[in-house]
Amino acid sequence: MASSSSSLDIGPKTLIGVGIGLVVAGGASYFLYRRYLQHRDAMPVNWRRVGTLQQINLFPVKSCAPVDLGAGVEYDCDVLGLSYEGIRDRTLMLIDENNTMVTARGYPHMLLIKSRKASVNGIVFSAPGMHDLELDFENLESPGQDLHTSVWGARVDAMLCGERFNKWFSQFILKMETGLKLVHYPYPKAVKIINPRLKNMPDITQADSGAFNDATSYMLMNLSSVADLNTRIKNPVDPLQFRGNFELKADIDEPYAEDHWQWVRIGDKAVFRSVAPCTRCILPNINVNTAERDIDGEPLKTLRSFRLFNYSSPALGIHLGLRQPGRVKANDVVYVGEK
Ligand SMILES: *[C@@H]1O[C@H](CO)[C@@H](O)[C@H](O)[C@H]1NC(C)=O
Ligand SMILES: *[C@@H]1O[C@H](CO)[C@@H](O)[C@H](O)[C@H]1NC(C)=O
Ligand SMILES: *[C@@H]1O[C@H](CO)[C@@H](O)[C@H](O)[C@H]1NC(C)=O
Repeated sequence: MASSSSSLDIGPKTLIGVGIGLVVAGGASYFLYRRYLQHRDAMPVNWRRVGTLQQINLFPVKSCAPVDLGAGVEYDCDVLGLSYEGIRDRTLMLIDENNTMVTARGYPHMLLIKSRKASVNGIVFSAPGMHDLELDFENLESPGQDLHTSVWGARVDAMLCGERFNKWFSQFILKMETGLKLVHYPYPKAVKIINPRLKNMPDITQADSGAFNDATSYMLMNLSSVADLNTRIKNPVDPLQFRGNFELKADIDEPYAEDHWQWVRIGDKAVFRSVAPCTRCILPNINVNTAERDIDGEPLKTLRSFRLFNYSSPALGIHLGLRQPGRVKANDVVYVGEK
């Protein structure tokens, strides 16, 4: 029986050769990977119209209703999120005695807290059974020191707004005189880390993490996707239950096309990168008009049946990061970038 191991012998020269080969191949793939990343990050030159912005929602307080600014308002888009004359998206939030974030998941009637623009520098809050409360962004109590809280595991610094806000929100939300504190986010840039759930997304950056936003500074919903979902459930839901900043009215009805977008432009200037799908918690199950949870667990239950993919919760809408500032208003044309 002839057996030979000689064909498997690897001499030192072969090893050196293989080593050099690996270094060359490694270098080449690194170079190609860099080229690929640069290509991925380059803003597209060609834009294809996909629809118009039917509605823009700016939520001054996390988990509360969007601010009512009337029609025809032009919003600024900067790295932190949407703003209009000092009123910014999700730069106010409620925390409990342990500085833990408080949301409508635990207190659904937070969704009934409304706000409108005040005559100067601020907003006026209103809620059923409560007197109106004005907040002036220029004159917030500032103890000069940050307190630390977190949003879904991402640490974020905040400042107190003042006792009269704590009392008003505690009265409406907890039916108590104390227990909650209203905090604001005073910085021009995100000082939060990326939501741990999204940190493996290739295009997301720390600057995209917004203020008290769950994940990123902007979220876009395609209304056709909501309309499609609504054909599958008994009681149609209000698109507002998904709390998107931008509600897109698509030119052609092909639901969930937004899953594949990389770049989005709104109007002439504001350019966004699609950085992650928006995966859904229990919040969309709360009716925004009645603040009641759906007893059948809808729409989340149905959404799970066809939008779960390989995530732990179903996806609807996309998270965006700003790549070029600009102004946006309702009815602006929405484009998708093509390379
Ligand atoms: C705050 O933390 C303490 C100690 O862990 C706990 O007993 C208390 O229930 C917490 N308060 C709230 C509102 O969760
Ligand atoms: C939005 O969804 C609709 C219907 O689901 C679809 O027709 C349309 O292509 C989508 N729009 C975009 C721009 O993806
Ligand atoms: C989900 O699947 C897609 C392709 O099917 C893959 O690219 C992606 O990495 C997967 N994501 C997770 C979280 O496993």
